[in-house]
Amino acid sequence: MNQKCVIVYESIYNGNTEKLARAMARTLGCRAIKPEEVLNADLSQFKAIGFGSGIYFGSHHPTILDAVKKLDHMEQDIFIFSSRGAPVLGKYHEPLKKMLKEKGKKLVGEFSVRGYDETGPWVIIGGGNCGKPDEKDIKKALKFIRKSLAEHCMPDYYELIESKMPVRDGFVNTYSINVNGIPVILKGDFVTINQEACIGCGKCVKICPLRVLSLSERKAFPFKELDCTLCRLCEINCSERAISLHYTWIDAIKVAVRHGKRKSL
Ligand SMILES: Cc1cc2nc3c(=O)[nH]c(=O)nc-3n(C[C@H](O)[C@H](O)[C@H](O)COP(=O)(O)O)c2cc1C
Repeated sequence: MNQKCVIVYESIYNGNTEKLARAMARTLGCRAIKPEEVLNADLSQFKAIGFGSGIYFGSHHPTILDAVKKLDHMEQDIFIFSSRGAPVLGKYHEPLKKMLKEKGKKLVGEFSVRGYDETGPWVIIGGGNCGKPDEKDIKKALKFIRKSLAEHCMPDYYELIESKMPVRDGFVNTYSINVNGIPVILKGDFVTINQEACIGCGKCVKICPLRVLSLSERKAFPFKELDCTLCRLCEINCSERAISLHYTWIDAIKVAVRHGKRKSL
């Protein structure tokens, strides 16, 4: 789990903003929490924080504004996001931006998409922005995160492997790569585990619904990689960010084909 970032979000209406918050949190490998959790959390420990909610009467939700009030004046990277009913963002982010400025925070980016809305005149036509945010919006949100918070995103170790080997059942490929001049051993392909970073806590082994992972000499490795559904539970729950998932669109289709006939876990 990324301990340097956190996302604080409110999504009271249709769960529109929650979709964005969850996708962003997956890319950052961090937690997405509700403002009430901030009451008991020390936000000064985070290097980057995202604040997001729906837009309600021209501003973010009051609980988000309250959470920002709780911030100290320490230097931190902040990004803000929202979903809204109106076709354009206008000045909806301004109240939050003003508060962040007063706290001396660095705004690294802002993002907003349209979200399903039935308020006011929309009710006459059965709601506006139907189906939004959709897949395209989520992709845009992830692009935004990768651009604005590149240094905090989940590392892609696999990209650093020059010659990849075929994935075979019951056999784990081992690769030796260099990350910033430091030698690193990787195990696996779709599910790659950095053996240096792994502390052998076994959480990934327990959490995987398909029992893809196993432990050997206090290091995790993907024992049944071809069973992986790419659900990302292992990646999200790794406190050391030792796991990263990779797949091409062909791999993703193959996953669907392999699991097509499965009737239960
Ligand atoms: C009480 C209320 C007030 C709203 N006010 C605005 C507004 O001022 N401007 C706007 O663009 N959308 C407005 N909306 C629409 C929401 O911002 C939009 O549906 C948003 O996606 C909801 O996010 P959520 O599902 O995460 O709560 C309002 C919705 C509600 C319920």
